[in-house]
Amino acid sequence: MKNKVVLTRPFPDELLAKLREHFELAYFPSGMVPERQDEFDAALADAEGLIGASSPPRVSVDADLLRKAPKLAAVATVSVGFDHCDVSALTARKILLTHTPSVLTDTAADLAFTLLVSAARRVAELDRMIRAGNWLEGISLSHFGVDIHHKIIGIVGMGRIGAALAQRASGFRMSIVYSDVIPNKAVEKAFGARHLPLEELLRTADFVCLTLLLSPETRGLINRDRLALMKKSAILINSARGGVVDQAALIDALRHGTIRAAGLDVFEKEPLPLDSPLRQLDNVTLLPHIGSATEETRYAMMKCAVNNMIASLDGTLKENCVNRELLER
Ligand code: DGY
Repeated sequence: MKNKVVLTRPFPDELLAKLREHFELAYFPSGMVPERQDEFDAALADAEGLIGASSPPRVSVDADLLRKAPKLAAVATVSVGFDHCDVSALTARKILLTHTPSVLTDTAADLAFTLLVSAARRVAELDRMIRAGNWLEGISLSHFGVDIHHKIIGIVGMGRIGAALAQRASGFRMSIVYSDVIPNKAVEKAFGARHLPLEELLRTADFVCLTLLLSPETRGLINRDRLALMKKSAILINSARGGVVDQAALIDALRHGTIRAAGLDVFEKEPLPLDSPLRQLDNVTLLPHIGSATEETRYAMMKCAVNNMIASLDGTLKENCVNRELLER
């Protein structure tokens, strides 16, 4: 008899066919919508596997969900981030958690750099100006952006994505500083990056880019006091997770010009609520959590998640496991 897997994202036909080859599939392409709640709970009740993701439609893998899934043996998230999963609860129940860390690195770094360019050169804002019919004369000082080349980029979190961002910044002839609990000697050697304590990085960088996982240690890391350390001319780029930044403090900093601008792909609450003050601010570029959202990369991530689920449930999992200690037992 086939294992049962609950899928809470839209997947392409080819990958659905592969899942159906291996598993009995319960498919919820819109996530856990209220109209299908009973059906979803019934599917979970005898499922061995669950495939979801951190971006909408997001299904939190928390104590409540786990209570409804007594047979669950594996969770595969179509993301590198796993902050929507209670890792300790999963590990305590010996449920494997896999993610898709290596297939999205370049795409995520491309997007972080895109936000940096857009915020520096005011790409989205000036596009809006033209569409609103406000390009009536030549542009003036009030429309100027700031240079990127030869500026200092501060990368907070020098993992795979941070390193790929450093490579892009180096191509733009930027100086690179970074902070991370573990120094990355390879990036120091390749791009002359300097390792700094976070506070010093915030005082030094022209662009502060966040490329770290959300965890209890990093939640609210960029708080009011730390935002106050940044240069008045500095730009904050967050393509990591909304929870890493105190969003209310950031809104105040953008409103009062404590920092110059921000580029955000992630928010405390997603989708961004209609009444969010961020929507009213011209000095912020907003994107709907698209760090890894290219056709090629999302396909690669979904394929990786399918392979992770197959390997988890047939006992051959070797890589991409978040709670690796379960493999080592
Ligand atoms: C990730 O992979 O964590 C991206 O943010 C997409 O969810």
